[in-house]
Amino acid sequence: MSDVPSHISLAGKTALVTGGASGIGLAVAAYFRQLGASVLVADLADTAPAGFESAYERGDVCSESDVIRMVERAAHEGRLDIAVCCAGIADQLVPTVEQDIETWQRVLDVSLRGTYLVCREAGQRMLPRASGALVTIASVTALGGFPRRNAYGASKAGVAHMTKSLACEWGGSGVRVNCIAPGYIATPMVEQVLERGRLDGRRITERTPMRRLGQPAEIASAAAFLASDWASFVTGAVLPVDGGWSAFGGSGDVATS
Ligand SMILES: NC(=O)c1ccc[n+]([C@@H]2O[C@H](COP(=O)([O-])OP(=O)(O)OC[C@H]3O[C@@H](n4cnc5c(N)ncnc54)[C@H](O)[C@@H]3O)[C@@H](O)[C@H]2O)c1
Repeated sequence: MSDVPSHISLAGKTALVTGGASGIGLAVAAYFRQLGASVLVADLADTAPAGFESAYERGDVCSESDVIRMVERAAHEGRLDIAVCCAGIADQLVPTVEQDIETWQRVLDVSLRGTYLVCREAGQRMLPRASGALVTIASVTALGGFPRRNAYGASKAGVAHMTKSLACEWGGSGVRVNCIAPGYIATPMVEQVLERGRLDGRRITERTPMRRLGQPAEIASAAAFLASDWASFVTGAVLPVDGGWSAFGGSGDVATS
């Protein structure tokens, strides 16, 4: 076991974090920097998050040319060690018969097309060096059916499955690809849908064995593990970070005592 590092470190690594202006992506970017990585944040937002003003690339992960630019800028002397794909948008959360196809398609594009483009472009940098770690972000909606989440659930199931396909294709080339499936995490995305009354916060905590929402930092620490040498033999994994949500088989406990 002497090859296992004594602590998680990303010192000297170059990392791209998409969707890094808010929520989970911002927590990942900040934590990776704390662990020693040189981080480029990429996001659609007009303004860079505090502390990342000189390490920010504005762009849309759905755009091939934008993603090529993000990856190019994140790489130092052509080398990119890590990419974490956090860009995502919420679903319409209205009954299926009221949903519009444009929003449906946009959710698919940001999540699935965006993750594909980032992985493909990052892979182009990593494969020749036989080294790299990609972390994709799915959701518990990738693991089971959720009413009204047609596009979101399908896109996240696609992300989880694509992660496995990439891991199998690149496993022999030293590039690891893993996925995190978060449960409900307290980010602006979730806070907005809670405020709009589209989700019931009380029912979320009741349905979650750990009886609370997760914090963005709790996804960042899982991402750091997967991106680091601590996970040197982990690839193709879909890791739920969900307070037990996906372990719980029922919608409520019906036992009387
Ligand atoms: N918060 C949760 O409970 C939860 C649960 C499961 C999965 N997720 C996933 O985690 C990821 C981060 O979500 P969050 O909760 O931090 O949301 P968030 O809204 O706080 O952050 C998402 C970020 O992605 C950016 N973004 C959106 N579309 C983009 C695009 N086309 N190109 C580049 N950037 C874009 C946004 O500007 C924003 O900064 C998403 O993929 C989301 O689906 C979140």
